[in-house]
Amino acid sequence: MTAGAALVTGGARGIGAAIAIRLAESGHDVAVADVRDAGETARAIEAFGRRALALSCDVRDDAAVAAAVGATEAKLGPLTAAVQVAGVWETIAFLDLDPAAWRRVLDVNLDGTFHVCRHAARAMAPRRAGAIVVIASNAATLAWAGGVHYTASKAAVVGLVKGMAYELGPLGIRVNAVCPGTIDTPATADELADPAARERQARSVPLGRVGQPGDVAEAVAFLVDPVRAAFISGESLYVDGAYGTHGEDAGFGGQVHSVV
Ligand SMILES: NC(=O)c1ccc[n+]([C@@H]2O[C@H](COP(=O)([O-])OP(=O)(O)OC[C@H]3O[C@@H](n4cnc5c(N)ncnc54)[C@H](O)[C@@H]3O)[C@@H](O)[C@H]2O)c1
Repeated sequence: MTAGAALVTGGARGIGAAIAIRLAESGHDVAVADVRDAGETARAIEAFGRRALALSCDVRDDAAVAAAVGATEAKLGPLTAAVQVAGVWETIAFLDLDPAAWRRVLDVNLDGTFHVCRHAARAMAPRRAGAIVVIASNAATLAWAGGVHYTASKAAVVGLVKGMAYELGPLGIRVNAVCPGTIDTPATADELADPAARERQARSVPLGRVGQPGDVAEAVAFLVDPVRAAFISGESLYVDGAYGTHGEDAGFGGQVHSVV
């Protein structure tokens, strides 16, 4: 029994790969769109007995995104779920943030999200059904040093999700955001390579560890489910071990309780 076709952008590695594979596990045929080769993710999807499509697609390119949605429906059938994961960040102090650096992040994280959501929604609208999930970040509501442009892009994405949920609800399309904290992926590998840095990061999270791509994938699998998440739209689900309750430099040490 198929759960329909899903499109996952940024699925060649990291969080996107985990989501694509998790959606295959829950019965989706999955198209993986990325600027990197997504063949490895496609093979993992097929290992679940599902159909897979590896698409070369830059989410900054509106026409390429339209083509990716078209190819997904042509090869895998009606799109029931679209997950916009492709994203980038660079750590640059605000006073050094020139317009080119600003654009490098905004073009992917915000414009790319707009392109993917619009084309996915246009495909879903005639059938009056579908779920869109956007991977934002807990940085949507938290500052970090050198991350003004990233925070701005992810906060904008959360606003985009609210607006789309309002307009697309009457068309039977649900739209939600997932806001991860620090997750162990190739993009954070350098930052977490030093065991002391990893330990510091883990200690700053009330649940005491760095997140894994599978933590995010579970949230997405829930949100795209037309039964379990049937009445949830316009929401942002934080998957950050409660990090967002206190902020980057709060220095939580886990030693606040005297009775345990
Ligand atoms: N890893 C974290 O700690 C973390 C935390 C919060 C939010 N996020 C968000 O989760 C998403 C995935 O992060 P990740 O850590 O897995 O990153 P990653 O770099 O490991 O994977 C991102 C994928 O997106 C692809 N991509 C980049 N630009 C693209 C473009 N223009 N078009 C198509 N594909 C493109 C990359 O090729 C890569 O395969 C991003 O949106 C990121 O902002 C990550």
